[in-house]
Amino acid sequence: PLPAAFQVPLPVPAVLAPVRSDATADHYEITQQLARLEILPGLRTEAWTYGGSFPGPTLVARSGRAMVVRHRNELPVPSVVHLHGGHTPADSDGYPVDLLLPVGASDDRSARAAAGHAAGHAAGHAMAGMTGMPGMGGAGDGLRSVTGERTYTYPCNQRAATLWYHDHRMGFTGPGLWRGLSGFHLVRDDEEDALPLPRGERELPLMLTDRSFTADGSFAYPSVDAALAVPGVTDDYMNGVLGDVVLVNGAPWPRVEVDRARYRLRVLNASNARLYRLELDPQPPGGDAFVQIGGDGGLLEEPIAHDAVEIAPAERFDLVVDFSRYPPGTSVRLMNRFGSGRTEEVMLFDVSSRPVSDDSAVPERLCTLERLDPGAAVTTRVFGFRRSRDAGWTINNQPYEPGRALARPALGSTEIWRFFTDVHHPVHLHLDAFQVLSRNGGDPGPYDAGWKDTVDLRPAEAVEVLVRFTDYPGTYMVHCHNLEHEDMAMMADFVVE
Ligand code: C2O
Ligand code: CU
Repeated sequence: PLPAAFQVPLPVPAVLAPVRSDATADHYEITQQLARLEILPGLRTEAWTYGGSFPGPTLVARSGRAMVVRHRNELPVPSVVHLHGGHTPADSDGYPVDLLLPVGASDDRSARAAAGHAAGHAAGHAMAGMTGMPGMGGAGDGLRSVTGERTYTYPCNQRAATLWYHDHRMGFTGPGLWRGLSGFHLVRDDEEDALPLPRGERELPLMLTDRSFTADGSFAYPSVDAALAVPGVTDDYMNGVLGDVVLVNGAPWPRVEVDRARYRLRVLNASNARLYRLELDPQPPGGDAFVQIGGDGGLLEEPIAHDAVEIAPAERFDLVVDFSRYPPGTSVRLMNRFGSGRTEEVMLFDVSSRPVSDDSAVPERLCTLERLDPGAAVTTRVFGFRRSRDAGWTINNQPYEPGRALARPALGSTEIWRFFTDVHHPVHLHLDAFQVLSRNGGDPGPYDAGWKDTVDLRPAEAVEVLVRFTDYPGTYMVHCHNLEHEDMAMMADFVVE
């Protein structure tokens, strides 16, 4: 039986404090560990967590100040940490075979077994892409794997934005996130701080995920191999795994009391495969429920008013909602119009009747953005996101293989990347954010504004983006962020030279 909606208070993940700070960096420590969490009231769910909670603790970074995060892996499986949206040197970017092996997984054989190298041809599914698993002799032979602890360094030479960190292990990103491995990583800067946007208790990070549970409260995930030695999901879930319980910040259909004031909602879709079309019910008088002030890569130049916001996996929308437009005591539901039945509801805002003051505002001009110039692009590369009969989900008909680069852009150059598709694929690039240039040859869509790092390709669409490769040479990823597609090989390396 599913829990009743709007019973559980909305949790807000705790902000992690640094263990120390020096002249140039703040240092953090996170232990990846099993935890038994009460997600469904009265039941316990065994989760894989960052620091014992799901979502993990929120990291708050200051633009221009480096953050050094030491992860210790006490999970029963290897892990890889990726900072999604981070402008990160390759050795800290969380390349999928740069494993952090569990504490104690010292000898080479157990390390490789833990890394699931027995995958590949043994799987009953189209897993040709997994021939490059660690230990299979490919270029990504796990040589950069370490045991126990790993330190990731984030220079944070980037503007204020809502980033997030999550597991990125080769072949197992889907089950890793499903079991709890994700958290917020906010970057703040002076430019954004100078704006009169809602802040403090009126700034809420909202991580949307959907999950399914077994009767005893365990996470239910349709892995082809319950022991997770072999990646992939059963045939029925090839298109991606959807859950029947909607969680916000790890709580099922939560509720929160809000003042009659403006709130800044940093919405992240951290679901494996679900798309949401968010609406408020009731709509505020006059419509335009959401004022979008930012996207994946931080503030927009000007706010954009929306009645509804469509958000694909891994995208972020920074939205201001003015609850003073509602009469005191109104219950406002956040709806998902792409859902059905219980998944049509997300959470509830109880508009308080207490008198409050609100000195926040949304300026008509938020910042000045550099527009990348299509005329400066040195090349156009084309990437086809498709399912192939024998190789699973592919990019340009190639299933993922570590070490095989599909593109080698020059450091400092601007390029046009054109993505086309068969079905929905949220396409994500590591290293640099991009700007959407066109959709099907026409203008970008209503949700494409500003700097983005993930863009949703809709069925039969082609999207062109402009991207400039900056600061860090090395190997990075382009992939579908439907995690089941990603795990089943819809991923490629690109090497910035
Ligand atoms: Cu959010 Cu390559 O990932
Ligand atoms: Cu996809």
